[in-house]
Amino acid sequence: SNTILTDVFGRRHNYLRISLLEKCNLRCTYCMPADGIALSPKASLMTADEIFAIAQTFVQNGVDKIRLTGGEPLLRKDFPDIITKLASLDISLSITTNGILIDRHIDVLKQYKVKKINLSLDTLIASKFHSITLRNQFEKVVDNLHLLLNHDFQVKVNVVLMKGFNDNEIVDFVKLTQFLPISVRFIEFMPFAGNQWDRSKMVSQNEILSLVENTFSANEIQKLEDEKNFTARTYQIKGFQGNFGIISSITNPFCDSCNRIRLTADGKVKNCLFSNSETDLLTPFRNGESITNLISESIQKKKKVRAGMVTIDEMNDPAKHFDNRSMIAIGG
Ligand code: GTP
Ligand code: 5AD
Ligand code: SF4
Repeated sequence: SNTILTDVFGRRHNYLRISLLEKCNLRCTYCMPADGIALSPKASLMTADEIFAIAQTFVQNGVDKIRLTGGEPLLRKDFPDIITKLASLDISLSITTNGILIDRHIDVLKQYKVKKINLSLDTLIASKFHSITLRNQFEKVVDNLHLLLNHDFQVKVNVVLMKGFNDNEIVDFVKLTQFLPISVRFIEFMPFAGNQWDRSKMVSQNEILSLVENTFSANEIQKLEDEKNFTARTYQIKGFQGNFGIISSITNPFCDSCNRIRLTADGKVKNCLFSNSETDLLTPFRNGESITNLISESIQKKKKVRAGMVTIDEMNDPAKHFDNRSMIAIGG
């Protein structure tokens, strides 16, 4: 039954990322275009029952890990209902969130064993938080990070780096892992519609590592074994409780071991983060048709690297990526 989710390069897709909605309670400039996006009409978004049924089809074909994203997944009014349903599947279930609504949902997350939470936090300075997110929620997010740790969740902190903006905080984030058992992941800024990406705004893996090496000596910085099908290449400072990693989608992609497939909030399967070729599952599902072949067709069309953008020059070519969705409507 794994053949449906195996692509022509032999990659098995066992990790499904489901975007629950296209809205967010922050306005991060690298994610949401300044003038917003055209939201899908509510009737074209998957309901909780549809999310469950479509997810179940993926699980029957070999998916064993589901991550809920958005927009901000915790903004779905029926989030507890969605979690309750998905928790009945034999999968590991996790979410990526901006953290603002964590306190409101902590009980349901605990009850359904959503043990791993990835939380976005790009700066440790309140005023900078406001200039990226356009909202004053820094303290709330930090409080909720500690709340998660107090409740023994495994937390990864996602830091999208932008040149001249937060690259001077890399070492502070690494130092945070001395006493906090978190995994900080530094992320190379990636291009999506409306986020004004430019290669010069990106902080590369090599730059990140050399900044860390300016503060910590080579024998203090230990390379860790990376997770299977990793996005992050991980390191630890000797003796620190937490660790840090680098997600280098631009300068050092990890597509060889890609196991990820995406489902958008409006029910389209997306075979790569950077792909604009999408396959509608929701309409046929609503018509009572089988979606298994459609999933398979999408997987078979998947390109080897970044939807066909092999070089950084191709990443820099607006024609190649500006007709993809905005990040807010993909979910990372
Ligand atoms: P884990 O399950 O903990 O490994 O999380 P993750 O890294 O898969 O997901 P998360 O939502 O925390 O995303 C962290 C960063 O990795 C974001 O910038 C995502 O856009 C990026 N990312 C996630 N999956 C992929 C992928 O398949 N390809 C690329 N290029 N980037 C990805
Ligand atoms: N480049 C890299 N990472 C991004 N994210 C959102 N937009 C971008 C971008 N343009 C990250 C968020 C979130 C994850 C799902 O994707 O920080 O943690
Ligand atoms: Fe997979 Fe596309 Fe990400 Fe590469 S860029 S790891 S192919 S989703």
